[in-house]
Amino acid sequence: MTRHPAREIQSFEAFLPREPGLAAHVRRVAALAAFVASRSGFSAPEVQAVGNSGLLHHLQAEVTGVPMAARLLADLGFPPQSFESSKVVPPDAAEIVAVWRGKRKPSSPHAAEFAAILDSANLFDEQMENLPYEDESTAESVNQLLDSGMLMPSFVRTIRSSWVVARRNVDTAANALPVFPKAAMEALRLARDPDAGRREIERALGKDPVLAGEIVMLANSGALGGSAAVNSLSGALMRVGTIAAANHIAAAAVRTCFASVKLHDLWEHSLQAAENAGALAGDSNSDAGEAYLAGLVHDIGRLAFELSDAALGVRQWEELGFPTIYAEMLSTGADHTELGADVLERWSFPESIVEAVRFHHRPELVTSKLAAVLYAVEDTNESLPSLARDHAAASRLEVEELPRARAAV
Ligand SMILES: [Fe+2]
Ligand SMILES: [Fe+2]
Ligand SMILES: [Fe+2]
Repeated sequence: MTRHPAREIQSFEAFLPREPGLAAHVRRVAALAAFVASRSGFSAPEVQAVGNSGLLHHLQAEVTGVPMAARLLADLGFPPQSFESSKVVPPDAAEIVAVWRGKRKPSSPHAAEFAAILDSANLFDEQMENLPYEDESTAESVNQLLDSGMLMPSFVRTIRSSWVVARRNVDTAANALPVFPKAAMEALRLARDPDAGRREIERALGKDPVLAGEIVMLANSGALGGSAAVNSLSGALMRVGTIAAANHIAAAAVRTCFASVKLHDLWEHSLQAAENAGALAGDSNSDAGEAYLAGLVHDIGRLAFELSDAALGVRQWEELGFPTIYAEMLSTGADHTELGADVLERWSFPESIVEAVRFHHRPELVTSKLAAVLYAVEDTNESLPSLARDHAAASRLEVEELPRARAAV
């Protein structure tokens, strides 16, 4: 993927909506429209005009040129220097907006097509914003819109054009992830079972010398090390304690997947999410160990994206202001929640964690408290902000307001 066409769009800061959510919407519409215009073979100035029309499509006044723009800026209280030519709405973008609104007849077939691209970009972004009010999964919702006939065929074709290859790349990366050690899974299950004793955990861990070694090392680390060195697994478990040992085993097992320098930030984010999820679950009388493990693996799907060729495309959309989930959808037609849940299913994770990971960006769709916990600790840059969704997650956690223990990337 070369330089994204939306990079060339003017910023028109003076004309953008003041409300941050709406300003973000017009920026995304501009990027989508410019992308489709560019892929449809239009010239660079035409792509720019289509992109600019996206930035300006919520401007209330009739924007028809320099005098009107200057008057508008003066009304908005901008100093005269704001009237310089770069801040004035270009007539070609103004025409696209006017045609889109039905206020003007297109002066050329291209103008009509540009207005249709703008319309499709706007509808697509509105659909993404409306997800908290939909009953379908994100992918189902997006595909329904793409199949609805409401969007321009060239828009639909462009969006879907790279999906098959990109999705295959991400799936290949997901399949190549190391398998979560069986012994660790068994030890974690036993650690959460009130009827299981330390001996049973020890027996399960003993089957995996690497993990057993991790616990012995932890017991002898600076923070916990007593006067005498511990050199047996049972001694180590005794010193560390079952809960801390379980969390450490989970982290050690998952960490092997993140064994690359470029994945360091995502690993830090996962660890932070695990800590916060454990604490939040503890506060609301839920299983803190399960929440810790769920936090560790909540973005395992992002890992597959990061390790695949789709990573660059996702990053380009993110840099243009698209949240992670949205950028992943645009690049592959899927997102890291479904993919992550599939990986965890393959690893035989408990169904409660698989479900929570599948819905950690759509907690409104399920009754799972754990999904709401993961959503509450999730980085807000990963999905579009939604008060309705925050409210749904808060109600699952039986609190008035969603606790904001977010783990930034
Ligand atoms: Fe709009
Ligand atoms: Fe996520
Ligand atoms: Fe995350």
